[in-house]
Amino acid sequence: MPTSWEKFEELIKAEMRKLYSEVTIDHAMNPRNVGDMEDADGFASVTGPCGDTMKIWLKVSNGTIARATFFTDGCGTSIASGSMVAEMARGKNVCEAQKISQQNVLDALGGLPEGSEHCALLASNTLKEAANNYLAMKNEPWKRAYRKY
Ligand code: FES
Repeated sequence: MPTSWEKFEELIKAEMRKLYSEVTIDHAMNPRNVGDMEDADGFASVTGPCGDTMKIWLKVSNGTIARATFFTDGCGTSIASGSMVAEMARGKNVCEAQKISQQNVLDALGGLPEGSEHCALLASNTLKEAANNYLAMKNEPWKRAYRKY
């Protein structure tokens, strides 16, 4: 027999399903890859036009992204987008990860309402910047000393 909390949760999910896919709800409520990373090989912090910020950390091994983590102060759909883009980046080489687009994130999430599509753009842009940062650090390792994370 469901508890009153479970019933309440189900009610909220039923409302969310009217707007969001199951995948989006799952990534928003159970985000993967959250948090900062010590000794990351690549990092970016990007603030979107909406004022929300996303941060992405990358651990790269032999040119392949072994791990990606994120943090955002944004809305539920930005959490879902960050969670998804970090999942998509893992196992890809850095150049492939740079090509992950807003549309790729939207497709993986099963779409977002039009007013939230920019959250997927923030996630893909932040991943690109983190990949760029990795490549810049690789080419000029002395810059690591000036990193702010
Ligand atoms: Fe700004 Fe979602 S509303 S990233």
